[in-house]
Amino acid sequence: MNYRIKDPNLAEEGKKKIDWAQVHMPVLFNLKKKLRVNSPLKGVKIAGCLHVTKETGVLIRTLHDLGADLSWCGCNPLSTQDDVAAALVDEGTSIFASRGVSNEQYYDDIRSTMRIKPNVTIDDGADLTVEMHSSSGNLTEVYGGTEETTTGVIRLRAMEKNGQLKYPIMAVNDAETKHDFDNFYGTGQSALDGIIRATNILISGKNVVVSGYGHVGKGIARRAAGLGANVTITEIDPIAALKAKLDGFSVLPMSSAAMTGDLFITTTGCKDVIREEHFLQMKDGSILANAGHFNVEISVDALKSNSRLVKQINENTTEYELKRGNKLYLIGEGRLVNLVAAEGHPSEVMDMSFANQLLSSIKLIQSKGSLLPLVYEIERSQDQEIARAKLESMDINIDTLTEDQETYLTGFSIGT
Ligand SMILES: NC(=O)c1ccc[n+]([C@@H]2O[C@H](COP(=O)([O-])OP(=O)(O)OC[C@H]3O[C@@H](n4cnc5c(N)ncnc54)[C@H](O)[C@@H]3O)[C@@H](O)[C@H]2O)c1
Repeated sequence: MNYRIKDPNLAEEGKKKIDWAQVHMPVLFNLKKKLRVNSPLKGVKIAGCLHVTKETGVLIRTLHDLGADLSWCGCNPLSTQDDVAAALVDEGTSIFASRGVSNEQYYDDIRSTMRIKPNVTIDDGADLTVEMHSSSGNLTEVYGGTEETTTGVIRLRAMEKNGQLKYPIMAVNDAETKHDFDNFYGTGQSALDGIIRATNILISGKNVVVSGYGHVGKGIARRAAGLGANVTITEIDPIAALKAKLDGFSVLPMSSAAMTGDLFITTTGCKDVIREEHFLQMKDGSILANAGHFNVEISVDALKSNSRLVKQINENTTEYELKRGNKLYLIGEGRLVNLVAAEGHPSEVMDMSFANQLLSSIKLIQSKGSLLPLVYEIERSQDQEIARAKLESMDINIDTLTEDQETYLTGFSIGT
């Protein structure tokens, strides 16, 4: 078995963490119990490129127990939990990941993962899928792939539009049981967790500027307000901006928000959202963090070139002293703050995201050869199955339509 990890001796610590996550992921666990009878992944080769965290550890164990042959790398240079990586290698999975890799090593790890010649790719951000489509990829045995996040789905839809996508993709992010829970509740809580772990600041009373009022931005804005912050939203979409205003938040362009914010959190999936002109307007001591997928939302290069002194305050916080004297603090190098400075999303939401990953992978295998190279939506029935299973695990019952109600809701004859 091939692998590249930081330290195999960390395996026991990692196993304890995965065991802890397992307890909080009952949907995935029950699916595994149900599916194991037919070994739906027997002999299937899966290449994964998704944050190596304890929750991903539970997904990897599940895929492994259902018969898959796995090869895995991280999808961010700073998000790998080295003890989890060691545990997974010890349990028989080829892992190519460690925290703090260079860009070159990051892509080497992706290419090592691809050597398995996968039947299915599981991706988060589309770096693996794009690399599979390059000269180093071998597509001969691929049935299809899945994509975990908004930015990855956007990239793959662009490939589809340009006629460059060569195998079908299940857009896991677009499942309601994914983005309405993982992006909203998951990032909402874990992004603030990361900021607090990195700085220990009091959120209450702070002016928090959240860029983007989509699924992630809404979740963070809501949690920050719950902790007592004054929240301002910046947006480019008039509908999202209007929703933010009517949800009770201030809405400003970044050029104005830059002057008043104490803490800035980007969640847009766009680039250069906070840039040179904004840094120059910011108050002394402002803190910057990004929760969008790539480290392009805060223009870190411009921050560097406008600074006369750069100092590491702690593992995840860097002080930039601007030429005019003000100090700005960047968390996690502008990479996903919840994964770099905290542990990623809570297990309870990853339970549903990864149940979607599992069922989507099985769907690709069952329909091999019959799907076109397009980005596919997740079927409503899959979303409903996962939501029902989650409710069941929480001991929550809901109502069912009577026959009469069903007729009413599907007819037109009864009006005023
Ligand atoms: N940190 C995590 O763990 C995590 C989890 C899920 C998603 N993500 C990532 O977070 C990002 C956002 O995901 P989402 O699901 O909320 O997407 P979304 O499409 O629901 O929301 C993005 C919002 O940002 C706005 N926006 C775009 N460009 C902007 C700009 N220049 N300035 C201000 N607003 C702008 C859009 O109008 C939209 O309302 C993506 O990169 C996604 O991959 C991260």
